[in-house]
Amino acid sequence: MAIEQEKFEQLIKEFTLDTDQLKTVADSFRKEMVSGLAREEGASMAMLNSYIGMPKGDEIGDFLALDFGGTNLRVLNIHLTGDCKAEVIKKVARPLVTEEYNLINKDAKADDTFDFIADMVAEAVEGVEDKKFYLGHTFSFPSIQENIYNARLINWTKEFAIPGVEGEVVNDLLKAALERKGVKNVEPNSVINDTVAVLLAAAYQYPDTRIGVIYATGYNACYFESNHKDGAAPSIVNMECGNFDKLALSSCDEELNAKSERPANQHLEKMISGRYMGELLTIAAARLSGKEIADDFTAIDISDMLADDENSTKTLAIMKAKMGFECPECAQKLRELAKAISVRSARLAAAAMVGPIWHIAGDNPIEAQHIAVDGSVFQFMPGVQDTIKAALAELLGAEDAAKISPVLVTGGSGTGAAIAACVASK
Ligand code: GLC
Repeated sequence: MAIEQEKFEQLIKEFTLDTDQLKTVADSFRKEMVSGLAREEGASMAMLNSYIGMPKGDEIGDFLALDFGGTNLRVLNIHLTGDCKAEVIKKVARPLVTEEYNLINKDAKADDTFDFIADMVAEAVEGVEDKKFYLGHTFSFPSIQENIYNARLINWTKEFAIPGVEGEVVNDLLKAALERKGVKNVEPNSVINDTVAVLLAAAYQYPDTRIGVIYATGYNACYFESNHKDGAAPSIVNMECGNFDKLALSSCDEELNAKSERPANQHLEKMISGRYMGELLTIAAARLSGKEIADDFTAIDISDMLADDENSTKTLAIMKAKMGFECPECAQKLRELAKAISVRSARLAAAAMVGPIWHIAGDNPIEAQHIAVDGSVFQFMPGVQDTIKAALAELLGAEDAAKISPVLVTGGSGTGAAIAACVASK
């Protein structure tokens, strides 16, 4: 199959961001943070107060952690040792989507989904029904909070669409389900976003951390705000920066938006996160080949292509499975497209880190700090971590960039939720 070189170059160009463009993104990101904090009309980042500060490290006891934010649901029984350590005593994990059922789409029923969760909670406390547990809920969707318990879902993201949950206090729905299931010894007492959970957990390992990032199915970040202009106590702010929209969209981004559950939302997330990168590649590959691709590429396919050998062995197999044909020249081009999409993703992620780095520093010099990152894209996609580092140096200059250490912090959703449950129980 012949590839039109011009078309290919145009697509690569669409996914390329030069230093100036990246600086503009970082700069508008910082401005959008301020605009969101001031609740200005049209601000694209919700900047949601989490009503929790940084942990002290002395949190102690056994807590339940619920991790609800992707297609895999987890309930953990976690022991906090009181000296910055967390041990998982029991873990129950189950998918919310299989070939037999789908508990997250438009046809799902909220009661069914929460009953499913309540069953898993019951399983996590099986055998210890005589002991009371506080439950911390890592609920990874934009939620407006009035306190640490009361988180109301604003809108679904990441293509979740369960009717009847938007506008509701999610922990009330969980409590009702626990009652229906007769689980009497578990009391949900807190809700945090997964970014907040990662930051809380990271503070146990790296006390200089002020920014927490999720770079996975979705993309979002939080930071510790020590100076709320409305007089609120210092606390962690969930930026919901996946919705950041001061971006030049490529025609592939536009096409992806149009097909998504919420075309006008989550523009940054759709350019960065694992949920969408594969779909972007599908759109680009379909244009290049002139063929319809029924089965979307995934972020895992992109990782496989990036790690492929010089004969493109894996890429050829993926092409055959998803596009119905294989040709070495096309495989090479597909890999270059995959690379362009992944590099753009990582460069934008770096720009989204620089915004809060600048905001936290204000007029002072940037302090040495870790940035806690969890998520499969950061952890597994070849090249992503190096690209972020290089982009940080482009944006901050070598000297300041050397002070910033993005680190992988796994298991934050559990540890962070247990810390929140402990803090809320006091
Ligand atoms: C989406 C959600 C956000 C979450 C992120 C990562 O952007 O809106 O709350 O933190 O995904 O899971």
